[in-house]
Amino acid sequence: MKKLCHIDEIDNHNSKGFDFHGQLLFAVRQQDNVYVYRNSCPHLGIQLEWLPDRFLDVEGELIQCSTHGALFTIDEGLCISGPCSGQSLQAVDHEVRDQEIYVALD
Ligand code: FES
Repeated sequence: MKKLCHIDEIDNHNSKGFDFHGQLLFAVRQQDNVYVYRNSCPHLGIQLEWLPDRFLDVEGELIQCSTHGALFTIDEGLCISGPCSGQSLQAVDHEVRDQEIYVALD
């Protein structure tokens, strides 16, 4: 496991993008829960955000792809609306220890 960042580097109920040793990821924080995915939309395999660190819809309740508006659940990364409906984001194994987020990536 390698350190991604301190949990406080992600605002609560918000998201943040990372270039982790050349691998594009993003994380969403909800209180003490953190969800980490590869920054690749299952529709076309391109990055999701419309602005740096902006991966959520306006309500902050779903992950939204900026290109064609696909919506994904935050906790499972399942696409519930859009051209890749039924597909999922690629989750990244991770854990939070002492307020630090670690990912199972090289
Ligand atoms: S590239 Fe994400 S919805 Fe089309």
